[in-house]
Amino acid sequence: MSPLLSVDDLARQYPVAMSGGQRRLLHAVDGVSFTLAAGRTLGIVGESGCGKSTAAKLVLGLLPATRGAIAFEGEPVTATRDRAWRALRRRMQMVHQDPLAALDRRLPVGEQVVEPLTIHGLEAGQDARQQKALALFEAVGLRPDLFQRYPHELSGGQRQRVVLARALVLGPSLLVCDEPISALDVSVAAQVINLLQDLQARFGMAYLFISHDLKVVRQIADEVAVMYLGRIVEQGPPEALFHAPTHPYTEALVSAVPTPLRGTRERIILQSDPPNPVERPGGCAFHPRCPRAIARCREETPALRQVADGRLAACHLVPSMAAPVPVAA
Ligand SMILES: Nc1ncnc2c1ncn2[C@@H]1O[C@H](COP(=O)(O)OP(=O)(O)O)[C@@H](O)[C@H]1O
Ligand code: SF4
Ligand SMILES: [Mg+2]
Repeated sequence: MSPLLSVDDLARQYPVAMSGGQRRLLHAVDGVSFTLAAGRTLGIVGESGCGKSTAAKLVLGLLPATRGAIAFEGEPVTATRDRAWRALRRRMQMVHQDPLAALDRRLPVGEQVVEPLTIHGLEAGQDARQQKALALFEAVGLRPDLFQRYPHELSGGQRQRVVLARALVLGPSLLVCDEPISALDVSVAAQVINLLQDLQARFGMAYLFISHDLKVVRQIADEVAVMYLGRIVEQGPPEALFHAPTHPYTEALVSAVPTPLRGTRERIILQSDPPNPVERPGGCAFHPRCPRAIARCREETPALRQVADGRLAACHLVPSMAAPVPVAA
């Protein structure tokens, strides 16, 4: 069966002006490939600026790709806003970090859940649309009396639930969640994650779940891709990846998370901030920060390839590494 979403060699560059009037290309996403099956969750992690949001916008057809191909439900995704694009966009919805920015401050939240149904001509009549929106309100755990409230009258968690109801009312098969909980308090964030899991079990949509919070990704994802400077450097099932990372960058990310994710691992402090993607280091882009770098790393770019346990990694040392030692959680 073909996957719900398949992304092949996706790239996006931005021209940027440098000091002195020079123009250079910034490689925000640079040759990313993955597939996502219906009803499953792919987590994407990596430091700020590594290209996660750009990848999300490309998948949703909100931004044209410089290179590569995206197929969703067997159809090519482009950023040309025609009929086919609108039909596809109904089936793939987005939830991002700031629900207040995503909502219209002048409209009661219930109306904002009804609105997509009206725009897409779904459900005959206002009553049916209202009923459908109320059912989604209930599904995301909002009381019906909040239907007439305005966004500023709700809490951050309630607003993110409204955004979810509005995304789900169209019956999408894919939800792209870009840092959906990073603006929420820890306890509210945990509730929203549980809700996302419940909604997936109930409605069966797939998630592309972007976060810099490894613990959350471990909880929610079936598969995790670790990005560094626009590329996937390691990919695999969360338990394996977080308990026994093979790529030194994943190892450093995991080691920065307090136990239990870190286990007995030493914290690896990465030297310096990620380099500017306009001046991407040659060879392995991670080499200036990598505690394990060897001479070859400066010269040769490691390809992402299959390593143990159905995992992928892009590191010259991985084949020669001893089998990763599991660390108890
Ligand atoms: N419109 C843009 N013009 C120029 N550079 C951009 C633009 N959008 C993003 N970038 C750059 O692309 C890189 C990836 O950004 P982004 O995808 O937002 O990363 P992330 O979501 O992982 O933090 C960053 O270096 C960012 O500065
Ligand atoms: S290829 Fe070299 S620099 Fe890159 S992650 Fe592996 S050891 Fe580090
Ligand atoms: Mg982002």
